[in-house]
Amino acid sequence: MSVAALVLAAGSGGRLGHPLPKAFVLIGGKPLLLYSLETLASVQEIDCVVPVIAGADLDRFRALGLDGIPKLAAPVVGGAERQDSVAAGLAALSNHAVLNQDEGSLVVIHDAARPWVRPAAVSRVVAAARRDGAAILAVPVADTIKRVSDGRVIETPNRAECWVAQTPQVFRLGLLREALARAEAAGRLATDDAQLVEWLGAPVTIVPGDADNQKITFAEDLAAAGHRLDRAPGEKK
Ligand code: C5P
Repeated sequence: MSVAALVLAAGSGGRLGHPLPKAFVLIGGKPLLLYSLETLASVQEIDCVVPVIAGADLDRFRALGLDGIPKLAAPVVGGAERQDSVAAGLAALSNHAVLNQDEGSLVVIHDAARPWVRPAAVSRVVAAARRDGAAILAVPVADTIKRVSDGRVIETPNRAECWVAQTPQVFRLGLLREALARAEAAGRLATDDAQLVEWLGAPVTIVPGDADNQKITFAEDLAAAGHRLDRAPGEKK
């Protein structure tokens, strides 16, 4: 069974309010997407790492000169929505020799916007998906969650049952293909990949992640990432 990783970096990052596309914004002098590419390539179980990049950023990506990263495959052009980028990556993997068309192979999907994921956490979620078919990293919520509509609370879910979904999320190739095809046929857009599998009614295993595997979305997240490196400069790699 082979394991391929898709690193999603095709978003514009409009909420960041930065002149560069989010994946190319420098943190500690290094483009954001490089952190994830290097971490995933360092995980022994992963056989290849496929960057999913916006078409407009391909030249910018090539200019990074990443030939030294082991296991790095050619970039794939992403789509308008995150789910379209996953579909593009999956289509490219279908032709990829590494996966050998084995439906039991695993696909690791990771947001480039999460630079701090640890190799040990990736290994844990890969092991769970190998056993169960679908697994995601997540952390329990600290706050009480409210479901809200038109400015009013409709529901307060039991906090003990609420977790924050992270990436990587890992799936058997066949299961992910089916889940994506069904969602596309139904015109449904998921906000994470596990939701596609949930819509099939298939179980998704939760693997406790690390609280600091946070997504960089807003300008303040970028500032916090810079401070983190000031405190732990070794993470700059
Ligand atoms: O925008 P957001 O931070 O939620 O995006 C999560 C991840 O999905 C980012 O790493 C982003 O680059 C990626 N993405 C993508 N294609 C899109 C939209 C988002 O690859 N069309």
